[in-house]
Amino acid sequence: MNKSSLFKELFVNIKTTGAVTFSSKSLVNKMLSFAEFKGAKVIVELGGGDGSITRGIIDRMDADSVLYVFEISEHFCSNLRRQFGTDNVKIICDSAENIDNYLDGQQVDLILSSLPFSLIPKESRTAIYEKSSLMLKPSGFFIQICYSYLLRFQFASYFSNIRTAFTLKNFPPAFIIICNT
Ligand SMILES: C[S@@+](CC[C@H](N)C(=O)[O-])C[C@H]1O[C@@H](n2cnc3c(N)ncnc32)[C@H](O)[C@@H]1O
Repeated sequence: MNKSSLFKELFVNIKTTGAVTFSSKSLVNKMLSFAEFKGAKVIVELGGGDGSITRGIIDRMDADSVLYVFEISEHFCSNLRRQFGTDNVKIICDSAENIDNYLDGQQVDLILSSLPFSLIPKESRTAIYEKSSLMLKPSGFFIQICYSYLLRFQFASYFSNIRTAFTLKNFPPAFIIICNT
C-alpha cells in the first residue's frame, strides 16, 4: 500500500482520524523517549494509523514483549498487518474502548496513543480513559500525542501524575502528555 493511499484514507476519514498528516519521525522519537521499554512486556498502541508510531515501538521493545495495536480503519489495519503482523505484534481492528476484550486480564506496562480524543464521542472516550487507567500497572505510563494543551485536563480526571512536553518539529506542532497513576 503506497503513501498516497494512506494519506487518502486519512483525509477521507478526517472526522475519525483527526489529522491532516501522520506524526513526524521527530515527534515519534520525542514521544517514545518518555517510555521505558526495557522490561515492558505488555504494550498497547491506540490509533495505529500508518504505523509511524508502531515502527518506533517495535524498534525499541524487548524481543519477548507483546504489542497490541488498536485501529478502527480496515484500510489502515490491513496495511499495518502487512508491515508488522507477527505473533508478538497483534493488529486489532476495533475501537480502543474494547481494549479489555483482547488483553485477557493482563496488566499493561505502556499505552502509547495518538487517538483524536476531542473527536471521539464522550461515552467511548470515557470508556477508553477508564479502562486504560484500570489496566495500567502501577509502574505503567500512558503517553498521548495531541494538538491541544487542553486535553491535559481530561487526563487529569483519570491519572494523578501528568506532565507535558511540546515540539515544533511536527505539522502541526504537537504536545505530548505523559501520565501515570
Ligand atoms: C491522528 S491519527 C494518528 C495516526 C498515526 N498513529 C500517527 O501518529 O500519525 C489517529 C488514528 O486513530 C484512529 N482511531 C480513531 N478513533 C479510534 C478508536 N476509537 N479506536 C482505535 N483507533 C481509532 C484513526 O483511524 C487514526 O488512524
